[in-house]
Amino acid sequence: MNRRVLVVGAGGREHALAWGFARSESVDEVVVAPGNPGTASFARCVPLDVGDPAAVASLADDLAVDLVVIGPEGPLVAGVADAVASRDRPVFGPGAAAARLEGSKAWMKEVLAGAGVPTARHAAFRADQQAEALAFLGMLDGLYVVKTDGLAAGKGVVVTDTRDEAEAAVRRYLSGEAFGEAGRTLVIEEGLRGPELSLLVVCNGNPEAALPLAPAQDFKRALDGDTGPNTGGMGAYSPVAIAGDEFVEEIMELAVRPTLRELAARAAPYRGILYAGLMLTPDGPKVLEYNVRFGDPECQVVLPRLDTDLGELCLAAATGRSLPPVRFAPDACVTVVLASEGYPAAPRTGDAILGLDAAAARPGVVVFHAGTTQDPTGAIVTGGGRVLDVTALGPTVGEARRRAYAAAAEITWPGMQYRHDIAAAA
Ligand code: AMP
Ligand code: GLY
Repeated sequence: MNRRVLVVGAGGREHALAWGFARSESVDEVVVAPGNPGTASFARCVPLDVGDPAAVASLADDLAVDLVVIGPEGPLVAGVADAVASRDRPVFGPGAAAARLEGSKAWMKEVLAGAGVPTARHAAFRADQQAEALAFLGMLDGLYVVKTDGLAAGKGVVVTDTRDEAEAAVRRYLSGEAFGEAGRTLVIEEGLRGPELSLLVVCNGNPEAALPLAPAQDFKRALDGDTGPNTGGMGAYSPVAIAGDEFVEEIMELAVRPTLRELAARAAPYRGILYAGLMLTPDGPKVLEYNVRFGDPECQVVLPRLDTDLGELCLAAATGRSLPPVRFAPDACVTVVLASEGYPAAPRTGDAILGLDAAAARPGVVVFHAGTTQDPTGAIVTGGGRVLDVTALGPTVGEARRRAYAAAAEITWPGMQYRHDIAAAA
């Protein structure tokens, strides 16, 4: 078919996407922009400023690609999908109007309210409303949650049972000291308790036609036992035993389809992945957040299990055609994120990574690169906070987990850290 796909982004999610398209029978060529040393090992990589809508659209034209797939939220919120679509090129990912769902948590909460979707009790405050924000904290009890309104790479959320800490976060956010403008509007909400679930849904613009992918569970805290600060995600696994087909359908009916209908009613129809971040509370599932792209690292455990042609699926969604049936292998998949010393606060970079080949040679294992780069000698070195996603398939979650950790043990660099309890309870 001579189909060419452009994947936009440079992280572990984009490595997994490029890997998925490379395995896709309907796709002949995968280009990644800018990509990373992991994607460069099997796909063409070209430099790109992913936040520049015109640059992305021009690159897609120059390469005459049949489909553009945008990995990260930043470009989506900045209108990159609109720029590509304005040139009549299929793009997988929502336009800026719908991407605002992730770009502003206050707006997301408005949409949820309009759609009647269960979520945590909350209120939004601007920089000049510090007194009101602190007073609102006094109306909550137990667990306090303070979030930046704008994008903060998964790090803009403080969950604490200490009122002092919550008040300190409010002051640091509203002053702009933490997260700059992104934090000068914030959302405060009641803390919910329960297991979390990530549901990624493929959307083609028709709310009734949206199809859920296999659910995954993400591990957001930096340290074992769900302690330490929130991160972009330290590991994930799929399938999730507590989320069978019936339960997923319940979430589609309760949350996803009403949200998609509400977006359509607000002239923001949705194409791409809608990621529902849910908490399964004693009062039923509640939406913590929506993201407008594949989860990272959830993507890394969902795509290896996908038995449907990824190219067909994404192109159908991008062009508003009916989606092919989505099927998953019974195998389980686990990914363990290897992070730099100091992540998430101040990751150290530039350390040489050893053992990549030995890890990748182990059965069922794929090592997706997240934050790696090459030094002038060509050696692969750490280039970010989350560095590698050591991913393994296996007949059970337990076996996939064992394989992933055995592969992780092959890899080393000074200060490398990772969680030891990813998928342990599963
Ligand atoms: P968000 O970016 O809104 O998904 O928040 C990131 C993470 O913070 C979530 O995955 C949860 O682990 C945690 N979190 C967010 N909102 C709440 C809440 N209302 N109660 C408890 N934990 C939360
Ligand atoms: N893993 C969480 C996220 O992608 O936002």
